[in-house]
Amino acid sequence: MTSPYVTKDNDSVSDDVVWHNAMVTHEQRSLHKQQTPVVLWFTGLSGSGKSTIANAVESKLLNLGKHSYLLDGDNVRHGLNKDLGFSDTDRVENIRRIGEVAKLFVDSGTIVLTAFISPFIADREQARALLLSGQFLEVFIDTPLSVCEQRDPKGLYKKARAGEIKHFTGIDSTYEAPLNADIHVETEGYSIEACAEAIVNQLADLGYI
Ligand code: ADX
Repeated sequence: MTSPYVTKDNDSVSDDVVWHNAMVTHEQRSLHKQQTPVVLWFTGLSGSGKSTIANAVESKLLNLGKHSYLLDGDNVRHGLNKDLGFSDTDRVENIRRIGEVAKLFVDSGTIVLTAFISPFIADREQARALLLSGQFLEVFIDTPLSVCEQRDPKGLYKKARAGEIKHFTGIDSTYEAPLNADIHVETEGYSIEACAEAIVNQLADLGYI
């Protein structure tokens, strides 16, 4: 296999950096794990339930014998992306890096779940474009702002309303909801368990598990 990046805008890669082919292929890794690798890209407001539902989905996948990994916004911002804040530019870079990491996980044969607000449509589409058709499913955790704000699990909406946090998504920073998500989950009035089950059922219907 040649570099999967050759057709992409790759201006910043030096000619002296040469793609090295792996002996073990993506197909062999997937076969070994007995599964169809895919990115489940959760998007939604802070407090919408992305991380909680993604965790519940991952537990169900484990019970089904699937190999998965969850990349969570708050956790990744403690390590890989700890140099990034919440300006539009930093959020774009946050999502760009996660898209690349997710691509590596898919190459390894893993089902990867990502739980990031990922507020901009263009960035989510860019993450999708890194993968082959069928390897990326956008999962919209659709919880109205009023409900997220009422839940306010981390007390951040309160701080944002008080002006103590700037550029807070939904308050003074934009959230662009998916126009045509692959999986759309309205959470209001439903349990975490029900939302997770709906997602797993859709994965089965779509032939991923
Ligand atoms: S993203 O917009 O760049 O995709 P990400 O999912 O990584 O965001 O991080 C969001 C989490 O960071 C929120 O759930 C919240 O806990 C925390 N956070 C801190 N400041 C902000 C802010 N200004 N806007 C949104 N989330 C914030």
